[in-house]
Amino acid sequence: MGNIDSLKYEILKAIENATSLPELEEIRVFALGKKGSITGMMKDLGSLSIEEKKEAGKILNVVKDEILLAIETKRILLENIALNKKLASEKIDITLPIRTETLGRIHPISQVFEEVVAIFGSMGFSVAEGPEIEDDFHNFTALNLPLNHPARQMHDTFYLPSDANGDKDIDSSYVLRTHTSPVQIRTMENNQPPIRIIAPGRTYRCDYDATHTPMFNQIEGLVIDKKTSMADLKGVLLEFIKSFFELDEIPTRYRPSFFPFTEPSAEMDIGCSRANGELKIGEGNDWLEILGCGMVHPNVLKAVNIDPEEYQGFAFGLGLDRLAMLKYGIPDLRTFFDSDLRWLKHYGFIPLDIPSVTGGLSSNGGAVR
Ligand code: DAH
Repeated sequence: MGNIDSLKYEILKAIENATSLPELEEIRVFALGKKGSITGMMKDLGSLSIEEKKEAGKILNVVKDEILLAIETKRILLENIALNKKLASEKIDITLPIRTETLGRIHPISQVFEEVVAIFGSMGFSVAEGPEIEDDFHNFTALNLPLNHPARQMHDTFYLPSDANGDKDIDSSYVLRTHTSPVQIRTMENNQPPIRIIAPGRTYRCDYDATHTPMFNQIEGLVIDKKTSMADLKGVLLEFIKSFFELDEIPTRYRPSFFPFTEPSAEMDIGCSRANGELKIGEGNDWLEILGCGMVHPNVLKAVNIDPEEYQGFAFGLGLDRLAMLKYGIPDLRTFFDSDLRWLKHYGFIPLDIPSVTGGLSSNGGAVR
């Protein structure tokens, strides 16, 4: 037992100097393992007298506890050091500025989509969706456009082949939706009034020139409640158009029009000037047609089992691409779909500048010029 103090000292010193977890484990085995030095001493106690055993056993137990504590303390320390080293090596410096030359851009359509959703969202509208392959019933019939209705001609529809069974039932034949209005029908089929939705999405018509592409984007709006009027419609649209063009005042006018799914129907124009071939919105004494709207036709409500005696509502539809062209001065619609990176760099928006009514719609990023 004479050398217990020097052995303890030696072991504690080794623990203190250990620089790695395996090294520490070696020391533990050396001292307290099956064949360890302290373990050996404990085994030797058997040969001592009871009195001596009591005395020496006590001392050995204290030494053992001391060594165990020293090992545990050192283990925690070494583990912390290892963890910190690992964290330091995996650190990413998020303070580095983004390299703008490699930064992607948000397409103007996506930007305008977010802007419109932000504005209507702030007015309590939610976003509804519907399929792009639509059946004839939702795209036409339920919208008060029965078969052979002359207004169907205006849509330049892409019809899909009739189904494999050769089913000629017109309501179950499919088209690429020609407008977002069928989302009105789907929303009313699945929800009870009050309803307040917008439905932005892709639409298709067989048409192609500087202001028409076979695929384009529309936004539908629908409000159904017990008391809604043309005045509500005008209020909502005025608020929207002012927010969208980020102007305090914009003159508007409503011209009587015809859509089968609204009665009365109107087209909304906004004031603009076209002096020197440059379009300026919100000033001057010229007019620019911006959207179609009206009070939902009773036949549309009947088609979805809503009682027109109890409920009424208004709807509107506008071209998202056209809005983007007007706001950001993009002259040719076809360029939206060219996938030309130089164009996107010019007209695109910096990511993460998420439009909001309070934080700014386009003011933070604006088109990157
Ligand atoms: N669906 C119409 C179109 O594509 C646009 C439209 C006009 C939608 C008036 C409406 C509306 O909801 O009330 O030409």
